[in-house]
Amino acid sequence: MSAGFPVARPRRLRRTAALRRLVAPGGVQAGDLVLPLFVKEGISEPRPVGSMPGVLQHTRDSLRKAAVDAVDAGVGGLILFGIPAVKDARGSAADDPDGIIQLALGDLAAEVGQDTVLMADLCLCEYTDHGHCGVLTASRDVDNDVTLERYASAAVAQAAAGAHVVAPSGMMDGQVAAIRTALDRAGFGDVAICAYSAKYASAFYGPFRDAAEGAPQFGDRASYQQDLGRPDEALREVLLDVDEGADIVMVKPALAYLDIIARVAAAVPLPVAAYQVSGEYAMVEAAAANGWLDRDRVIMETLTAIRRAGAGIILTYWAAEVARRLR
Ligand code: PBG
Repeated sequence: MSAGFPVARPRRLRRTAALRRLVAPGGVQAGDLVLPLFVKEGISEPRPVGSMPGVLQHTRDSLRKAAVDAVDAGVGGLILFGIPAVKDARGSAADDPDGIIQLALGDLAAEVGQDTVLMADLCLCEYTDHGHCGVLTASRDVDNDVTLERYASAAVAQAAAGAHVVAPSGMMDGQVAAIRTALDRAGFGDVAICAYSAKYASAFYGPFRDAAEGAPQFGDRASYQQDLGRPDEALREVLLDVDEGADIVMVKPALAYLDIIARVAAAVPLPVAAYQVSGEYAMVEAAAANGWLDRDRVIMETLTAIRRAGAGIILTYWAAEVARRLR
């Protein structure tokens, strides 16, 4: 410097990899990653999901193997989605003790239940023939309170099957309270609730709807999922879930909602999870397949950003791969 006085030199602490490691707060860790897994009833071979290269709809058998592999890699947990062979208006398979998700939870509880956290996505959209997240009224709106009864029953079925955590994702009002009450009454007071609290009506869920076969057959989810333009509503939803007894709160999607993650993390004294959703995965995989992005670096950059925003837990389809890389 020409001025002859000491100048600020932030680059001093960026000079070597060792210095950068020393001064950075904790980054992404294997044990904070949760792998979403899909299990489909009535198939004899796992099926690739076209819009999510590397992601499969599993058979019960291939699911067990994928779970063992992910736990060996060091992930912190698994979240399971079930796709039933038969769907109906009320989503009967969601709380059937012999429904695919319950059977698969039982398999995973036996196989890896001691070594990992078993989470179950709790919604009706994979189970209803109309693809909405709840039961419909005569005028084809989603009936909030009738749906709560279905969620309560599904939560108990998932807990009985071995879930450590149930994760209601349907965005009905009062869902956390209804589920907490039902779990407690059924003797599952120690089963935790990870609430999808701030879940936006996002176009980034597109590929997931291929994976879980839960696309709405008419309309959209805008009357129950959150409106993109309203950040304050996220805090309201999160605080309601905290009051209702949530143990973990989630923001979803992740990368386009880092501001929401940061606000939620600052506002609540609970673990905050973020869901790096199917569309976030598909964008990076597609660009990488074209040679347009450095896949591995971009994956770590997105996860680091989500962590930096304040998420302590990250749900990501790259969980097993990244966990293995971090070990
Ligand atoms: C079910 C549910 C969805 C996702 C997780 N749980 C789909 C939706 O709300 O339409 C999306 C996950 C992803 O896109 O990876 N309600």
